[in-house]
Amino acid sequence: MSKPVYILNGPNLNLLGAREPEIYGKQTLADIEDICRIEADTHGLPVRFHQSNIEGEIVDQIQEARDKASALIINPAAYTHSSIALHDALKTLDIPVIEVHLSQPATRESFRRRSYVAETATGTISGFGADSYRLAIKAASKLAQPDT
Ligand code: DQA
Repeated sequence: MSKPVYILNGPNLNLLGAREPEIYGKQTLADIEDICRIEADTHGLPVRFHQSNIEGEIVDQIQEARDKASALIINPAAYTHSSIALHDALKTLDIPVIEVHLSQPATRESFRRRSYVAETATGTISGFGADSYRLAIKAASKLAQPDT
């Protein structure tokens, strides 16, 4: 069995569905996990999910991914725009890193235009709602299993 793709979600994403649905959509995080599982299954990829509202816990998950994951998909939520700790942790990874956002931060408030994560990511997928995650799994599958 190949190593799983880690899918990490940051603060307030546990409230998806109820939180500003006009921006983030009506799907819950559980719905998004189902979408990811279905897409990952088509690529034969195991996935592992983790959501936390705590920056240090996300750092711990990133560190764990160093040995245990084949790729990492991360929606750092608000930490995208503030966290040097996540930036530094992500820089220690040798696996593909895909930054994901439901919305398109570049078209929103000016404080969302800066991503400390983008500088460390292989690529970023944003603005497609829950489909951003599905596209990220596709990308992770290509990057983690280049011969398939
Ligand atoms: C988000 C965008 C961030 O700016 C915001 O803080 C979030 C969600 C997104 O998925 O669109 O919490 O990462």
